[in-house]
Amino acid sequence: MNLKSQTVLIIGGATGMGFATATLVEKLGGKVIIAGHNEEKNALALEKLSESAESRYVDVVDPDSIEELFNSLDNLHHVFITAAPGGTGDFLEAPLEIKETYIYGKFWSLFMISKSAVKKIDQHGSITFITGGFATKPTKGTVLVTAAFNAVEGFAKALTVEMAPIRFNVIRPGFIDSGFWDYMEESERNQLFEENKKKIAVNRLGKSEDIAEMAASIMMNSFINGQVIEVDGGQLP
Ligand SMILES: NC(=O)c1ccc[n+]([C@@H]2O[C@H](COP(=O)([O-])OP(=O)(O)OC[C@H]3O[C@@H](n4cnc5c(N)ncnc54)[C@H](OP(=O)(O)O)[C@@H]3O)[C@@H](O)[C@H]2O)c1
Repeated sequence: MNLKSQTVLIIGGATGMGFATATLVEKLGGKVIIAGHNEEKNALALEKLSESAESRYVDVVDPDSIEELFNSLDNLHHVFITAAPGGTGDFLEAPLEIKETYIYGKFWSLFMISKSAVKKIDQHGSITFITGGFATKPTKGTVLVTAAFNAVEGFAKALTVEMAPIRFNVIRPGFIDSGFWDYMEESERNQLFEENKKKIAVNRLGKSEDIAEMAASIMMNSFINGQVIEVDGGQLP
């Protein structure tokens, strides 16, 4: 299995799971286009990829920016979206604009991207979204993220019907040790990592590469469609 002669757009591809996927796609013979809202990070990532790789600017919470991105692209085979910005989403306390931002970043942006992407993607291609464990295991304060993740998972399933034969799938990662957590203080982050490690059956945190392997498998296996695939190392009770 390989991705020779296939072009893969990775939105969020400059870092974390997206960058790990870009690297793997190239190893599998594919051409990569990374897109993100930080030109500096895009440039740094591009330096580590092959000469055939390209980058684009996109801010996924700006519909005009999404339109511009897809106006600049053609002949895509697969799209993988890891950029899904959020915020705090406490049910009673969070200001309405933060709640709206959350739903926009986690769900509506994927809706807008998909609408543009299906016009530029090969009929045998695929679009893959990311959600997370809160989709099925909410904790206090995750009302909005749980709602948004379930919206994404339902959206993907429904698109397999409306946009067939293009494939739509969702990866639901467990706890992944990526730059995603860099916003936290180191001691706080280490504590969170240790606590989460204890809950994972394989006794380690996830790596961006674990998600990249699943993303590439979905691209290459043309019979995986409408699935939510949990990549979380197994959760201990
Ligand atoms: N890490 C985990 O444990 C975990 C678990 C479950 C789900 N997830 C989800 O998985 C996704 C990927 O996470 P990751 O670990 O790979 O983290 P990451 O390295 O932070 O990847 C997210 C990428 O999206 C970019 N991005 C953010 N807002 C954007 C916007 N408005 N427009 C365009 N690009 C934007 C980020 O750029 P900047 O860094 O410059 O903002 C970053 O390059 C995220 O949606 C996250 O919520 C993560």
